[in-house]
Amino acid sequence: MKIALLGYGKMGKSIEKVALDRKHEIVLKIDYNNQHELTTENLQKADAVIEFSTPSSVLTNIQHCFNTGVPIVIGTTGWYEHIPELKVQCEAGNNTLMYASNYSVGVNIFFKVNEVLAKIMNNYPYYDVQVEEIHHTQKLDSPSGTAITIAEGIIDNIDTKKEWANILIADTPAEDNLRADQLLIESHRIESVPGTHTVIYDSEIDTIEFKHTAHNRNGFALGAVLAAEWLKDKKGFYTVADMFNFSI
Ligand SMILES: NC(=O)c1ccc[n+]([C@@H]2O[C@H](COP(=O)([O-])OP(=O)(O)OC[C@H]3O[C@@H](n4cnc5c(N)ncnc54)[C@H](O)[C@@H]3O)[C@@H](O)[C@H]2O)c1
Repeated sequence: MKIALLGYGKMGKSIEKVALDRKHEIVLKIDYNNQHELTTENLQKADAVIEFSTPSSVLTNIQHCFNTGVPIVIGTTGWYEHIPELKVQCEAGNNTLMYASNYSVGVNIFFKVNEVLAKIMNNYPYYDVQVEEIHHTQKLDSPSGTAITIAEGIIDNIDTKKEWANILIADTPAEDNLRADQLLIESHRIESVPGTHTVIYDSEIDTIEFKHTAHNRNGFALGAVLAAEWLKDKKGFYTVADMFNFSI
């Protein structure tokens, strides 16, 4: 396949390596410094776009892809409040889009088991639940998109939790003033951490911890390239769950 990369930072570079290993060709690379090269003519050279840029540039990049008709795989996080309107626009224009807060196989297995665990824990309300995430200090959004997906998997299955609330733990200790129906997502920023997520169920009797640790960015990059391959000849608005479709 001919692939265009929108965003050529840490993830764009990892994706390029995986795509070349899988015998794909990179026909366009757009980063902050060469945005003028993002033209219809250049995008039309690609069979698929893989977009890992910034929350402030992703929506413009999606519009360029919709205008050109090229399928787009979005990895950028921090824009999810726009999903409903983009889904309508994507389907009305007969376009193709996949988004995921996390493309790694391991994390998507984690998402699935997280939902099953939450269903079980819903029967034991004396456990309180919270989510912790750790990422590198350059990460722009907080909480991570992955932590939001984990939190949604818990809120959908635990009756006592209605919404999530985020605390970014910087140098100062967090104020603990959450309501009982709010699910705490605690965000930590530590140099060089690619992504660690933990779900903690705590009671007076014991603690259950369920944890995923990414060792590097290769899992995200491979999942994004697999998504571009999977979208070939498809139309519509997808999430990565449509591709993995784990059954138990
Ligand atoms: N879904 C996933 O699996 C997954 C995994 C890792 C990271 N991410 C997300 O991907 C995004 C990128 O992560 P990263 O670690 O590569 O960040 P990064 O800061 O290393 O790279 C982002 C790049 O986007 C470029 N950029 C800025 N404006 C642009 C524009 N208008 N058009 C194109 N490029 C532009 C920047 O110059 C930078 O090189 C973040 O939102 C991050 O949260 C998602």
